[in-house]
Amino acid sequence: MARRRTAILISGRGSNMSALIGAARAPDFPAEIALALSNRSDAGGLALARQAGVATAVVDHKIYAGRDEFEGSMQAMLDIHRIELICLAGFMRVLGAPFVARWRDRMLNIHPSLLPSFRGLDTHARAIEAGVKIHGCTVHFVEPELDSGPIIAQAAVEVRDDDTPETLGARVLTQEHALYPAALALVAAGRVQTDGARTRIATVRQG
Ligand code: GRF
Repeated sequence: MARRRTAILISGRGSNMSALIGAARAPDFPAEIALALSNRSDAGGLALARQAGVATAVVDHKIYAGRDEFEGSMQAMLDIHRIELICLAGFMRVLGAPFVARWRDRMLNIHPSLLPSFRGLDTHARAIEAGVKIHGCTVHFVEPELDSGPIIAQAAVEVRDDDTPETLGARVLTQEHALYPAALALVAAGRVQTDGARTRIATVRQG
């Protein structure tokens, strides 16, 4: 089966991007990382992508008159690279409804909490503050509302009494690096169907 051409959108250090690039090196991985696209030219992840031999592009949101123009330029870049799937990985721009609709069921995001708890920023500090015993991360399809959309996969992490946002966040990040490639593999293999707010994962038939 042809590997699905996938773009990773980043704004920062790109550790999830690196995990996806690493996983996609396996010959039987159903997605190929064809582009790392950043809205910031100083994103650390761009150098990591280049080192890994992945094409990079910068579409700087600051030079555009508005969101539509910025997203139009991103779409043009995605078209040039014949992208079929998008993974948001620490991409710090809110995307507009037309762009999200165009990529419906083909754009994934990773969020460092067990959604629908703790949408938005500072999730680890807020989880500790709220006193939850279980925290984690979520990969979901993107919908216009921030950090919402059908959940593809989640991983749970125990919250320890002595956790700080940093120690908890580090353990969640380790889980993110395993969860995101697993979720992308499911989507790229065509095994994820959305059904309203839910997804259903098809099992693989043997033999
Ligand atoms: C991760 O915690 C991810 O869950 C969130 O942004 C962070 C990105 O980190 N969406 P990195 O750039 O992948 O290292």
